[in-house]
Amino acid sequence: MNFFIPLSIVALVCPHGVDAFLNPSLTRFSCGTVRGRDCFRSMVANRSEDILDADVVKEPAFAGVSRRSLSVESFKVMDVLERANELQSQGKDVLHCEVGQPESGCPSTVAEAAVSALTGPPRQVMGYTDAFGLLPLRENICQHYLDKYSGVSAENVDTSRIVVTTGSSGGFLLAFTACFDTGDTVAIASSGYPCYRNILGALGCELANIGINSEFKITALELKEEIERRREMGEKPINGLILSSPSNPTGSMLTPGELKDLCQLCDEENIQFISDEIYHGISYGKEEATALQFSNNAIVINSFSKYYSMSGWRLGWMVIPQELVEPVNCLQQNMFINAPTISQTAALKCWDEETIAELEKHVEKYRTSRSVILDELSEISELDPENIAPADGGFYVYVDLGENNVAPGLGSVAMCKALLEEEYVAFTPGNDFEDPSGNLGDRRFRISYAGGIETAKKAMERFHNFWPTWMERVQAAK
Ligand SMILES: Cc1ncc(COP(=O)(O)O)c(C=O)c1O
Repeated sequence: MNFFIPLSIVALVCPHGVDAFLNPSLTRFSCGTVRGRDCFRSMVANRSEDILDADVVKEPAFAGVSRRSLSVESFKVMDVLERANELQSQGKDVLHCEVGQPESGCPSTVAEAAVSALTGPPRQVMGYTDAFGLLPLRENICQHYLDKYSGVSAENVDTSRIVVTTGSSGGFLLAFTACFDTGDTVAIASSGYPCYRNILGALGCELANIGINSEFKITALELKEEIERRREMGEKPINGLILSSPSNPTGSMLTPGELKDLCQLCDEENIQFISDEIYHGISYGKEEATALQFSNNAIVINSFSKYYSMSGWRLGWMVIPQELVEPVNCLQQNMFINAPTISQTAALKCWDEETIAELEKHVEKYRTSRSVILDELSEISELDPENIAPADGGFYVYVDLGENNVAPGLGSVAMCKALLEEEYVAFTPGNDFEDPSGNLGDRRFRISYAGGIETAKKAMERFHNFWPTWMERVQAAK
């Protein structure tokens, strides 16, 4: 199928002309109510089948811009961050409750290790490492599993199966590419972390969106229902499942029993389970379980970005089944060579006693901020407590406004925009996390409390003042 749109038509449809499409860096402008990139996207809406069509892939729509890249949604929290930063640079007192980025820097032991590695003596070269990363770091990771979780076999976490990655995001690309082919179906939770959807889409995978249950999670029960529904409807089977527990955005956690059932179901149904455990270490009383306790086939992905407070160091890891060692090694060699050597070197300090003591203090701060937010939300009578996700782990509170608190054009997307423009408080609208074919994205929103206790307090004060004025607007629009 040929798919070529003359540049003149693009220029007509999008007032900003073709330049924006020829230069991906020009995609941040507003194009009526849609962005420039969306303007193009709306013209190629539902063209995902094109990505699957080898003939089309060979023929680019425009020089230098692939259809694949144009099919990818923005990571909306980064759009919110960009606008929040813009307001901040204009001198506004912006409260950042949008990104999941710890306010604290990396642990002091890690910073010192980085400085001494760079300055010496002896001054380290910081050349390439093995594709899977520094062996001592992989040994520490292996030990971490053996120390923290009961029943993980040493074989499952052998250093030969541990891959140090460029953040967990680098791990997603490696895992998805190693496990799935174009056209494969991968199940994700809705609500869930947006980049799963966006990266899988870019790789030409199809998505099975599974709605979360009343406890804001998906368990073996919901997966089984979807497997059976697809069988009955004659739809393609599910090849993979990716989930995070604790979840971003809901903060819900699978119990060890629920995780075990999910691992077993995936093994029985030949579904490659990818367990994103990036928020492990940040939880408030519930037991954390790893898929490595229950399955030899699951892939576990983790990162230094959250608990270890090293988001910009771009360092994460995966534990993979034996069968994937060779393919992932080849992919890592070609795609990344290795994760940043300076970050790997410094991260060797991550499990020192002093480091853990510092990191545990951060968790205490998250616990306080979490209470501030949950208490403030409970004061808002219009919000149904059942519509506030449990926030058992991670550093997010996810809220559903409910049907009564929205009006046409005045859902959570407009609310987050108004809150940012009027009160300089940045929350993330739910459309980052929800199945785009439904309407929940415009009813839900996420508050991040990774930015510190003072930020959480001030943000909730401003939200409290804003809320009645917002409700008046909603009522007037009904
Ligand atoms: C669930 C989840 N997985 C992965 C990531 C990406 O993290 P990294 O910095 O390790 O790439 C995030 C970031 O917010 C996340 O929330």
